[in-house]
Amino acid sequence: MTEQIVILDFGSQYTQIIARRVRECNVYSQILRYDTPARELAKLKPRGLILSGGPASVYAQDAPLPDRRIFDLGIPILGICYGVQVFAQFLGGRVEKGRKREYGKGTLTVKDSSCALFAHLPRKLQVWNSHGDKLTKLPRNFKPVAVTENSEYAAIENRARKFLGLQFHPEVVHTPCGREILANFVHQVCGCGKSWTMRNYIEQAVAEIRRQVGKEKVILGLSGGVDSSVAAALLHKAVVGQLTCIFVNNGVLRGREAEVVREVFGRHFRIKLKYVNASKRFLAKLRGVTNPERKRKIIGREFIRVFDRTVSELKKNRRSGIGNQQFKFLAQGTLYPDVIESVPIAGNPAAMIKSHHNVGGLPKKMKFQLVEPLKCLFKDEVRRLGLELGLPKEIVLRQPFPGPGLAVRILGEVTPERLRILRNADAIVVNEMKSSGWYYKIWQSFAVLLPVRSVGVMGDERTYDYTIAIRAVESQDGMTADWVKLPYPLLEKLASRIINEVKGVNRCVFDITSKPPGTIEWE
Ligand code: XMP
Repeated sequence: MTEQIVILDFGSQYTQIIARRVRECNVYSQILRYDTPARELAKLKPRGLILSGGPASVYAQDAPLPDRRIFDLGIPILGICYGVQVFAQFLGGRVEKGRKREYGKGTLTVKDSSCALFAHLPRKLQVWNSHGDKLTKLPRNFKPVAVTENSEYAAIENRARKFLGLQFHPEVVHTPCGREILANFVHQVCGCGKSWTMRNYIEQAVAEIRRQVGKEKVILGLSGGVDSSVAAALLHKAVVGQLTCIFVNNGVLRGREAEVVREVFGRHFRIKLKYVNASKRFLAKLRGVTNPERKRKIIGREFIRVFDRTVSELKKNRRSGIGNQQFKFLAQGTLYPDVIESVPIAGNPAAMIKSHHNVGGLPKKMKFQLVEPLKCLFKDEVRRLGLELGLPKEIVLRQPFPGPGLAVRILGEVTPERLRILRNADAIVVNEMKSSGWYYKIWQSFAVLLPVRSVGVMGDERTYDYTIAIRAVESQDGMTADWVKLPYPLLEKLASRIINEVKGVNRCVFDITSKPPGTIEWE
């Protein structure tokens, strides 16, 4: 990537948001550790550096500090929050504990509107602060360019060296003009063009996949989710004929899931698709199991077994159209947030959150080399890439669906009868959410089957049936979530359709728990 901005991560919870904002300006950005040596950075030839915020104090003994030679690279640097204090530490300013922690909304007044960061912006802006320490003496050759109620150095600049500092956070949505400020930095100060687009990315990625894979064969486990689907479409474009996808029906998929995948990949894209219906095997293993973690483990383990066996069969089978393959590569839809090395600083939430959901992961002992063509992309970029590659909206814009599928949405034992009920209820939820437009606005919406029976009346008869809970949540990354205040008429329609159309259900409830303290899935 010739034109890029490097973000040095000092442990802020917002570092990934900075990277996304820069990419929204059509400029490639990557996140590196705060202590990446300046000579390594120089090799990447970045157009500019951004020093992120962070939870530490620059004066603390173990404060994360950068290689001091980054200031001699001759490229623009933007310090955000803790990043400004790093300027002070290295370039002769002073930082002190603020008397008052500045947290929340503030009003920024731009004093010097010739500063490129504030080009085409009003003189008064709403900004978001979150800092305890405060700059009390400017670093050498810096000038103040904007102030807040609490800080006379809310934005500072050394114009000759193109060093800029912001005490507030331009990357968060609570700084409404923050995107423009970052856009001004990357375009006006660093001189970047707008070459980072998914259309351009396809070209680069195709070339890179061809270089890596050569004439070898590639295998990919297709789940029907966004990431593996987009990875499959991209590989298909790059090495058509060398890719084989395996789609395992684990018996706990949503209704029509298998059909959609076979329709889109098998018939439309004409990708070599090996469909394995292992429903019976999975359901047999799940019989009588009620513990959620056991369910997850069983599904993860069986998936690996089925995948492994299918690969061996494909290798042996000379007659089948897609058989007799020696697969050297395994393709996976790993995304950028999975590979960013988090900075181990106390107070950095990203450092503590480890994915506990890797049930689809394949063991290392499977002797493949990995192809991960999405590993520098964020989720929203993967979706745009998918659309660019011609995948239907139904796949690209779908909500996340857990690897263990409906098994973690049926509380207690998974039985064929409960699966039938949940699939039907779930189809109604998806259908109504889509037709009301809510499906695409929120993170997830789905039905959960509660294995408790309650009494109802339908016509003249008494019923004694299951309950369906409706869950709808808003989230950025699944780590925290708020329940969505769906309109009453929509809830009413959902409940009435589910109770009338799904045999075995006589009650519907709406889940109003946020995460934390709840989780998104019920198991
Ligand atoms: P929780 O329930 O932990 O879910 O709040 C957070 C997000 O992760 C998804 N999820 C999973 N995804 N395998 C997956 O691939 C799993 O075992 C799994 N469990 C939860 C969940 O749908 C939500 O988006």
